[in-house]
Amino acid sequence: MIAPHSIPPTVAQSSDTPLYRQVYERFRSAIAEGTLKPGDRIPSARALAKEIGVARGTIEVAYSILAAEGYIQARGQAGTVVTPNLQAPGRATRASAPRPAGKADIEWPRSDAPMPFQMGLPALDAFPRKLWARLGARHLRGTHASELAYPDPSGLLSLRTATAAYLQVARGIQCTPSQVFITSGYNNTMQLILQALFKPGDSVWVEDPGYPPTRALLAQAGMQSVPVAVDGEGLVVDAGVAAEPRARGAVVTPAHQSPLCLSLSLPRRQALLDWAERNSAWIVEDDYDGEYRYVGRPLPALKSLDRQGRVLYCGTFSKVLFPGLRLAYLVVPEEQAPRFERLCLLLAGGSPALTQGILASFINEGHFGRHIQRMRRLYSERRHATAAGLSAVLGTRLHIDPQPGGMHLVARLDGHQTDRALAARMVENGLYAHALSHWSAAPDARSGLLMSFTNIASAEQAEQLAGRILQLM
Ligand SMILES: Cc1ncc(COP(=O)(O)O)c(C=O)c1O
Repeated sequence: MIAPHSIPPTVAQSSDTPLYRQVYERFRSAIAEGTLKPGDRIPSARALAKEIGVARGTIEVAYSILAAEGYIQARGQAGTVVTPNLQAPGRATRASAPRPAGKADIEWPRSDAPMPFQMGLPALDAFPRKLWARLGARHLRGTHASELAYPDPSGLLSLRTATAAYLQVARGIQCTPSQVFITSGYNNTMQLILQALFKPGDSVWVEDPGYPPTRALLAQAGMQSVPVAVDGEGLVVDAGVAAEPRARGAVVTPAHQSPLCLSLSLPRRQALLDWAERNSAWIVEDDYDGEYRYVGRPLPALKSLDRQGRVLYCGTFSKVLFPGLRLAYLVVPEEQAPRFERLCLLLAGGSPALTQGILASFINEGHFGRHIQRMRRLYSERRHATAAGLSAVLGTRLHIDPQPGGMHLVARLDGHQTDRALAARMVENGLYAHALSHWSAAPDARSGLLMSFTNIASAEQAEQLAGRILQLM
């Protein structure tokens, strides 16, 4: 059922265009833009007339034209719906709608179901929904009066404690719950860090290629991103020193460099820590999917080597559980904890206590660890199947990088393809890819596609999708 407020609520009485025509045009463009989708129910003429303050007859005229043109169908008792299977001319897919500000200059899809190869999503079909619902129901039944009050803006103590325990065992990070801050995602975490430890005008190293939202967040905060090259061992620390030795910080993805999925080598980790200690700079470790390594064991976090308290560790539950949860965490050096506590009081709205409580139980009762292990096996299979399916059809036109972990493939294109044009054509045709060159500030950035395999169920499915890509090349 679509709520009446999906359609702009007022019509202009003074306009030259008759009211019925204005209503008609609004529905037509809502359908063309994908705001109203085939099968969506639209409000009754009576309800809409009341809502926007016009005569019911006006709406009925508009609806009769829409019905005559095939846009909508009356279904008796079931109301009126947008015609199922309607192929509206010039319809823009919802998937290509830009994500709201904050996710940089790249288009991120917002479709209801994941698009094939959609980046950033875990396997949505494999999340244990029944178990989650059971835990949720238990928490709702047992809601205590105190949980109806404002939540602690730094995070629910039980979740901070469960996260600290998990990080110690799984990522080698020694921290107390008071060093863990629960946030609503990476952007929120970064805002806290930038506000607490940096000031406008500061220079910060960023990986090149690197996650575009990081550059956008730094720019928004008035800071200077200094692109630093990445090679087979991760961030080239010497290149950073050469470019800007006095940078106030560095944002890195040591477990699986985003987007190349390589790990920062031990000598580079040490060099980066030494540089930060010498310059009293801050290292922001973005460990968004460190759990997903398919060769050997997951590497300990860079934070586990941090003896001088220079590393801010960012984790998220988006990849190991699901991004709709909007829960992430930040671990700060012990001496910085009071400063972050104060900042959270001032700036953070706090995350919903109920969701945090469910998640704490999910972790404490062992489901979290089991889920990660299951997903690690599943992703290893899906990665293999997707790479095999793509290679079988696209052969030498696309070379998939071998990589130890991560949730997407890096597929290099042969010299004739520009990745941006192909990625744009894929998105137009209901497939999804990011252009690798779009993640880089370098003018001679290499051409490639970033494609997630987490929601590709088999090699057959990958082959069939590869056939569609081939037609776009
Ligand atoms: C490099 C990188 N960092 C962080 C995140 C996590 O973002 P969030 O916690 O807002 O879901 C992502 C998600 O795609 C990512 O790719």
